[in-house]
Amino acid sequence: MSQPEVALRDATWAEARQVWSWNNAPDVRRASLDSEPIALEDHERWYRAKLGDAAYHIWIARADGDDVGVVRVEENRQGVGVVSIALDASARGRGLGRRALAGACRAYFQRRPGGALEAWIHDANEASLRCFERCGFARARTDLRGGRIFVMYRLQEEPTG
Ligand SMILES: CC(C)(COP(=O)(O)OP(=O)(O)OC[C@H]1O[C@@H](n2cnc3c(N)ncnc32)[C@H](O)[C@@H]1OP(=O)(O)O)[C@@H](O)C(=O)NCCC(=O)NCCS
Repeated sequence: MSQPEVALRDATWAEARQVWSWNNAPDVRRASLDSEPIALEDHERWYRAKLGDAAYHIWIARADGDDVGVVRVEENRQGVGVVSIALDASARGRGLGRRALAGACRAYFQRRPGGALEAWIHDANEASLRCFERCGFARARTDLRGGRIFVMYRLQEEPTG
């Protein structure tokens, strides 16, 4: 079966509701460190602020003519980009998550050469663990959060030249 291309573009206000609906899906909340549902007005306040924040990178992934999900990188105080990804349920399991994540890593390292990325993944989230491993992330440590085990994955861009 042919594998669709995944294109990334910078998120805009036009996708505010769509990003909320992807991130607020119950299974996406369960996969997150903070598993509480997100109120739309809280999301809109957060999203408006983050669109104008240079430490945030939010991309919309598109495949076969449809927007299929969102990848976000938030730079923490140490300058490490913390990644999260959420695909529409209908788009999962077809290699799109892996391509979207790989594209976001490339785009991030173009903006931050020699930078580092991290992700916290629930240890039962097989698709996500595999997706990050396939993109070159390595298991760095684990942590217990709210009675659940999360694995921290890390990817450091190798210096070139
Ligand atoms: C995690 C997520 C982004 C992965 O994207 P995806 O498109 O479903 O995954 P892919 O099809 O690209 O598959 C990536 C790898 O995981 C494997 N995989 C996919 N679904 C799987 C599943 N349900 N169980 C086990 N492995 C699975 C694939 O076989 C593939 O490995 P391979 O390349 O070695 O064959 C997507 O499932 C998602 O949005 N889930 C909900 C939100 C979430 O959990 N986000 C992660 C928290 S940061």
